[in-house]
Amino acid sequence: MDRYLVFGHPVRHSKSPFIHTLFARQTQQELEYGLAEPAVDEFAQALRTFFDQGGKGCNVTVPFKEQAFTLVDCLSPRAKRAGAVNTIKLTDDGVLLGDNTDGAGLVADLKSHGVTLADSRILLLGAGGAARGALAPLLAELPSELVIANRTHTKAQQLAAEFHDLGPVIAQTYEQLAGPFDLVINSTSASLQGELPPLAPALIHTDIAIYDMMYGASDTAFISWAKQHGARQTMDGLGMLVEQAAEAFTVWRGIRPGTKQVLRELKRNLGAI
Ligand code: ATR
Repeated sequence: MDRYLVFGHPVRHSKSPFIHTLFARQTQQELEYGLAEPAVDEFAQALRTFFDQGGKGCNVTVPFKEQAFTLVDCLSPRAKRAGAVNTIKLTDDGVLLGDNTDGAGLVADLKSHGVTLADSRILLLGAGGAARGALAPLLAELPSELVIANRTHTKAQQLAAEFHDLGPVIAQTYEQLAGPFDLVINSTSASLQGELPPLAPALIHTDIAIYDMMYGASDTAFISWAKQHGARQTMDGLGMLVEQAAEAFTVWRGIRPGTKQVLRELKRNLGAI
């Protein structure tokens, strides 16, 4: 049977095996999908061993995405832009292809929620790996402007300069931000510590769409805060997780699974898997 897995550390609570098992059942593909948690300095060896022993493909998550970028034989254009790899496929020619489906997953999830990206004014909070992965797919949707704000402003400036060739992207400090924005995407890890990015409440209005790449069994700190200040449309990163997985499954198997039912089941099981 074709073997796939996700590399991460820690990875025990990964929902990828659950998601890919449902995709395989739905599309009637014979495959198994497991977990691997190598020590941080043993990832390269573990990756080699997995493919030497017949593995067909893998996902890569925190903290290995940047390392995976350096270990594959070739990179998709979107992985090159993202500077990170979350999906690896062993091609029929024996080549390890590194891809990145995170940004495509974000855009697919936004669209599935009916969010219009073309001609919209987007605020992206954070300038780490998650923001970097989102930039090219967001700019490809032709927003009127994409503003990056980050606690460490120089990192936002660097990202804006790096992606400037793809569209109207600028960096501003949190203090400089002036609305109205149509969509705010939180790519910071602040919610992990129950913290909030230092965003002025005045930027939130009833018609704004709020997206937090984090998710949990209940609202993230950022989503609770945005709701308190009047945002009616709020979305967490669970849909992005399922959509990036669907994109990876398509890369591996050449068949695109449906995501709605899987997302429903995942929500039902959140916390239990
Ligand atoms: P990831 O790969 O998930 O993006 P990362 O590269 O560590 O993770 O980036 C985390 C991002 O969250 C950074 O933009 C970080 O801001 P700094 O560049 O200033 O470190 C941002 N971040 C983390 N905690 C934050 C907080 N409490 N408030 C605002 N931004 C925060």
